[in-house]
Amino acid sequence: MSSKRIHLSVPHMGVDERRFVGEAFDTNWLSTVGPNVDGFEREIAERLGGDVHALAVSSGTAALHLILRAIGVGHGDRVAVSTLTFAGSVWPVLYLGAEPVFIDSETTSWNVDPERLREYLGVAARHGRLPKAFIAVHLYGQHADLDPILEMCRQYGVTLIEDAAESLGATYRGRQTGTVADYSILSFNGNKIITTTGGGAVIARDPALLTRMKKWANQSREPAIEYVHAEYGFNYRMSNVLAGIGRGQLKVLDDRVARRRAIFARYREAFADLPGVTPQPEAPWGLHTRWLSVFSIDPAEVPVTPEEIVRELDREDIEARPVWRPMHMQPVFAGAHIVAGDVAQRLYETGICLPSSSSLAEDDQRRVIEAVRSVVSATAGRSR
Ligand SMILES: Cc1ncc(COP(=O)(O)O)c(C=O)c1O
Repeated sequence: MSSKRIHLSVPHMGVDERRFVGEAFDTNWLSTVGPNVDGFEREIAERLGGDVHALAVSSGTAALHLILRAIGVGHGDRVAVSTLTFAGSVWPVLYLGAEPVFIDSETTSWNVDPERLREYLGVAARHGRLPKAFIAVHLYGQHADLDPILEMCRQYGVTLIEDAAESLGATYRGRQTGTVADYSILSFNGNKIITTTGGGAVIARDPALLTRMKKWANQSREPAIEYVHAEYGFNYRMSNVLAGIGRGQLKVLDDRVARRRAIFARYREAFADLPGVTPQPEAPWGLHTRWLSVFSIDPAEVPVTPEEIVRELDREDIEARPVWRPMHMQPVFAGAHIVAGDVAQRLYETGICLPSSSSLAEDDQRRVIEAVRSVVSATAGRSR
């Protein structure tokens, strides 16, 4: 076993984070309000462009909860979601007593298949059971094909929400992630391309609605001297200390995208001669950040499951992960409505996420490459 464990995706600080955090200490803004929170929100919106505003909150999941409430999702409503995602894309649907409907992936980007969504919306419209919203997930740093999705959401009166938790830094037809729909979420969880240790943001075009969400996130305190509450609230604000980390991290976002893409390019080159090992494709509609480098292992060529690879790499002190288990295959969502699902299932059954930290040293990446090559060559030729 090697001396140092290689993790999947770790925080990578720049040079300014400590300064912003230090300022919070020096000025005693050790709270959920302060100059770093205001600055971070302003700088996120500036970075994204596209006439959007940002609200810094405690997590991406919290951000999604606020948006779903703001657009009026409630008990008995339906909300459609890409099935191939992390559960944080769906929990807030349950918090509001609504029902998720899962939509399958396509194979160009591994994101939601617009044709499947069209099929579902057509049937739902005929039955008078249209969903209130559709949450389009941008998987592993790459955009879903949003133009046709946006068009059909407009046609059917369904609100489109971008789950850009994994795609900060990515673009879609020249636009920054999170700026195509009217509502989006970002995540600054510790494993993301930039982090505040934990945190998230609501991105929205309508400043009035964002102000409402801000009030809810702050315990729904009405502007009064007393504690007056006309609506129920949450404690979802981001701390001024953590927002300071975020301000420093935003400054290095472009560098982190470039590094993750370079890591991916090295893997792709190193596995080019391995039959049956293919990367998540980069779709023609935008820049993929390669937040995670993900490969598909064709069982006809390499009869090994992602789980076996994860276990083998773990023996070498390397952390890898299978692709997200689709939501319609999760025990908690047993019986939920799924539109198709076989593409996402196949991606899950063959996909593997490799260490992708922007701080990954070349020698460590070599260790990962050797370990993967060794599992693949040991198993090629046997039956799965
Ligand atoms: C696609 C996706 N959506 C939502 C979330 C939830 O974000 P958070 O962990 O900040 O609550 C995550 C990740 O953490 C995610 O990967």
